[in-house]
Amino acid sequence: MAKLALFGGTFNPIHNGHLNLAAQFVREVGFERVVFIPAKIPPHKDALDLIAPQYRLQMVQLAVDGIPGFEVSGVELAREGLSYTVDTLREFHRENPQDELFLIVGSDMFFTLDQWYCIDEIFSLATICCAAREPGIFHRMTQFAQQYRQRGGRCIVLNVPVMEISSTQIRQAVRHGQSIHELVPAPVEEYILKEDLYQESHARRVERYQQVIRSMLREKRVQHSLNVAEQAVHLAKIHGVNEKKAQIAGLLHDVCKNMKTLEMLKWITGSGIAMDNITLRQQQLWHAVASSAYAQNELDIYDPEILNAIRYHTTARRGMSPLEQVIYLADVTSSERDYPDVQRMRLLAEKSLKEAMRESLKFILGDLTRRNLQIVQDTWEAYNEYIL
Ligand SMILES: [Fe+2]
Ligand SMILES: [Fe+2]
Repeated sequence: MAKLALFGGTFNPIHNGHLNLAAQFVREVGFERVVFIPAKIPPHKDALDLIAPQYRLQMVQLAVDGIPGFEVSGVELAREGLSYTVDTLREFHRENPQDELFLIVGSDMFFTLDQWYCIDEIFSLATICCAAREPGIFHRMTQFAQQYRQRGGRCIVLNVPVMEISSTQIRQAVRHGQSIHELVPAPVEEYILKEDLYQESHARRVERYQQVIRSMLREKRVQHSLNVAEQAVHLAKIHGVNEKKAQIAGLLHDVCKNMKTLEMLKWITGSGIAMDNITLRQQQLWHAVASSAYAQNELDIYDPEILNAIRYHTTARRGMSPLEQVIYLADVTSSERDYPDVQRMRLLAEKSLKEAMRESLKFILGDLTRRNLQIVQDTWEAYNEYIL
């Protein structure tokens, strides 16, 4: 009679914490085999971030490759409809009638065992194995184990240090372009990068940013932001600028516009940006700087082109990139704008970014001097460059 452990989970992706946990159990309980079983649609989990089963299966395969006694089974993925643990246990019991079955579960699962489908049959088929993930949880787990024993369950609760790694943390790290080298086996890391797994699609990202602006801006400003994004894509297409970047920068260029002044200041100083005296005195300029800082620190935007397009959309500056010009001009020519000259500016922006920038800066400088307002250095320098 061999000790056979089943380790189910989404493995989205599998990581060193899973492998470490299984290894601890092998040491403590003496399993001959540990079978990792990726789940198709876990009945209790939020499946939003779940990637296709064949990728998860392949990653588990790569992770256990070469580890004696560790193997992978696609049995739950192959099954039609919802997949229940009890079905899997029945199947393994049928195929390995002499073996003693164990089921490794996470601590969150352990506390909700009594809600599982056919839990009494599960108890009769396998011993439940669980480890205390965080300190202090062990006592509560032994209490639960006691309750389960009273209804015929067999449980092994280990009080061992478990590596604090979560699949969520890995997905976020990949999305942020951070290393996951310490978190997953090397072949899994290579596979994730090679297959572009856990990267957010552009459509999903746009949806996320639209939700952000809806939650942070007043209705009129939301509409303006959507219009600027639309106009930015239009101008980007004409002038051969990256349309996706234009759309994102357009959506977020005013994201902090309705924020309280102190909060804006918090984002600006928090990102290490020092404002000069003139900018400090003109609060209408702060939102651009704050929005750029917010986009970087809160919305996972690391692209310097996008960040600069947001940051300089009110002041402009010397040496603006095509994307910066597109956002600057989309902001003054978006569809809801209705100042007398707007149609001419729209045509000019379509014809030439440079000419439109020059016209726009001439207008702004005239307006600022008429209103006796100070002019920030960046705007002067932009004007001097474009007037040449
Ligand atoms: Fe703005
Ligand atoms: Fe704007």
